[in-house]
Amino acid sequence: MILVIGATGKVGRQVVGALKARGAAFRVTSRDPLKAAQTLGAGTAIVEADYTRPETLKPALAGVNRLFLLCGPNQHKAELEIAMVDAAKAAGVRHIVKLSVYGADERSSATVMRDHRRIERHIEALGLAWTHLRPNLFMQHFLSHAGAIKAEGVIHAPLERARVSVVDTRDIGAVAAAALTEKGHEGRAYELTGPAAPSYDEIAASFSTQLGRPIRYDNISAEAAHQRMRAAGSAEWHAEVLGEIFAFFRAGEGARISDAIERVTKQRARSMEDFIRDHLAQFRA
Ligand SMILES: NC(=O)c1ccc[n+]([C@@H]2O[C@H](COP(=O)([O-])OP(=O)(O)OC[C@H]3O[C@@H](n4cnc5c(N)ncnc54)[C@H](OP(=O)(O)O)[C@@H]3O)[C@@H](O)[C@H]2O)c1
Repeated sequence: MILVIGATGKVGRQVVGALKARGAAFRVTSRDPLKAAQTLGAGTAIVEADYTRPETLKPALAGVNRLFLLCGPNQHKAELEIAMVDAAKAAGVRHIVKLSVYGADERSSATVMRDHRRIERHIEALGLAWTHLRPNLFMQHFLSHAGAIKAEGVIHAPLERARVSVVDTRDIGAVAAAALTEKGHEGRAYELTGPAAPSYDEIAASFSTQLGRPIRYDNISAEAAHQRMRAAGSAEWHAEVLGEIFAFFRAGEGARISDAIERVTKQRARSMEDFIRDHLAQFRA
């Protein structure tokens, strides 16, 4: 039996869709099973659990041998995920497929990248089979720019001319489902990127072409980006860690392109143009 944590989120719901397409036996956790059933559709086995209280995972983990591990944005992510890993090991889980991050490294300047590598190392040290998924910035992140694209025709971001090999969460879900259901993915860390590393100017140009009206990239300062995130409701710690990731990208570190999605899924990775085309209605004024 497979257990998916974080099944209602951006990546988790794609993992669920891909597992269903494979006919795999799985269940998921959510803090709100009724809402999760609306999101994930009938026929999904849902167990109520809250990973800020890892003991609540125990019933969900009964009989589980493969775990998709994810923690949403949380200031205590490393401690929470490590507690989830320990609960999984105690429950007899044999293989953990962990949603990590591109650039995961204990020496990284970015907290998120250091934390993810710390969790990866904890899993490795327990002697469990593991597969680390290290995606770059999600294309679905651009849905958070939909309001400004519709109202002002602008994408505001503090990325200068940085190139970022953005990746579609649908492809991450497909790789996760393969790792959870096939042999041969144990002991692998997959860097997951799209097929190109566009700059934000190029992304704005792709939006212009597909929307048929000019969309411009507004290169704002790091401080202005911080203020915008705070005004949009991000907590101070969250705006700070996102600011570290933007700095990592500005330093030119986000442009590596990997073929792991195509190698694992035998399908080409979706491009930013594919993502825009498939979500046009959400960006139309
Ligand atoms: N955003 C990016 O571009 C990016 C890029 C690379 C890596 N990542 C990594 O991706 C991960 C986040 O994935 P995501 O964006 O798919 O997450 P998300 O959309 O924020 O979803 C979070 C999920 O976690 C569940 N959750 C939240 N709090 C919970 C709690 N206390 N107990 C149990 N479940 C809880 C939610 O389920 P319920 O509400 O149903 O309980 C939801 O399904 C992070 O580790 C991040 O570092 C993000």
